[in-house]
Amino acid sequence: MGVLLTTLEFLASFLLIFLLGFVSVIVLEAYRRRHNNAHVEAPAMFEDPESLKQVPCPDIVDPAEKYLSLIIPAYNEEYRLPGTLNETLNYLQQRAANDKSFSYEVVIVDDGSKDGTKRVAFDYVKKYGVDNVRVILLGKNHGKGEAIRKGMLHSRGELLLMLDADGATKVTDLEKLEKQIHAIASKDYHPGDSAAGEATFRISDIPIVAFGSRAHLEEKALATRKWYRNFLMKGFHLVVLLAAGPGIRDTQCGFKMFTRSAARKLFTNIRLKRWCFDVEIVFLCKWFGIPMLEISVNWSEIPGSKVNPLSIPNMLWELALMSVGYRTRIWKINS
Ligand SMILES: *[C@@H]1O[C@H](CO)[C@@H](O)[C@H](O)[C@H]1NC(C)=O
Ligand SMILES: *[C@@H]1O[C@H](CO)[C@@H](O)[C@H](O)[C@H]1NC(C)=O
Repeated sequence: MGVLLTTLEFLASFLLIFLLGFVSVIVLEAYRRRHNNAHVEAPAMFEDPESLKQVPCPDIVDPAEKYLSLIIPAYNEEYRLPGTLNETLNYLQQRAANDKSFSYEVVIVDDGSKDGTKRVAFDYVKKYGVDNVRVILLGKNHGKGEAIRKGMLHSRGELLLMLDADGATKVTDLEKLEKQIHAIASKDYHPGDSAAGEATFRISDIPIVAFGSRAHLEEKALATRKWYRNFLMKGFHLVVLLAAGPGIRDTQCGFKMFTRSAARKLFTNIRLKRWCFDVEIVFLCKWFGIPMLEISVNWSEIPGSKVNPLSIPNMLWELALMSVGYRTRIWKINS
């Protein structure tokens, strides 16, 4: 009797969670459609701090105007942002000085910070000019996924890199991702086939995603971290495997590079706003058949992680929403 009861209880809670997920997916989707139709989504605006003029806002559907865009989501990063920006801009300026064909922009997305992030970011716009450094203000806190989505949709690069404001990854590692993307693109597109092929070959038009990865550091990390963190990590890997399928060992690394065409397909569809949009990226790459590369990057653990125990239910909830949303086809994918 006792066993039967617990089995029933288990089934009932499972059903309840599924129903809850189902209803939420429908409600969220109705909300999203209403907003998209009414164009309530405020266009991002860039203000030139010198002239105070509004700068026209680029769109991911437009052709690229720069070679590389770096998108940095920032939430309460007043203290860590300057170090990251100094290192990043030093690298970019040096590279531009050595290579006249290299052009870049840094897009900082302030995700409703309550500290001086906005002021710090605008100081860099003043120093480097609005053509090189731009700030998008989300107004209120939406989540890292949403910040990156907004940044990507208003970037100008042929290649678009997302990186964390805390400087956990060395910016120079982007060259590893870039090299691999070029290698895959030229292999798939045989630019040597004809002279015309070479002339029209643009990296921005070939959908490819390179995932920075910390999987090679896992063994060392396993040995040094608390057991419950390892347990949670393994559990998370399993859930990701169930939700998005195999292919990428480290989905959560904040260092990923997209060609413009890949970003266009992915970020016009991404719906998850906080922790698990990375998993949704993997899911969508598979759906579109976009080649995914996983490339080891150096990583330094920076104190002040924003993942706390409360984010775990949130993560599971997002993954459940994603699974229900796409499998029931209530979440439609535009290609
Ligand atoms: C960043 O560079 C500026 C100007 O060179 C300097 O004043 C500031 O101290 C640097 N900040 C960090 C955190 O390195
Ligand atoms: C990390 O950095 C060290 C030293 O800077 C280098 O020797 C090593 O190859 C790097 N590892 C990866 C995976 O890039």
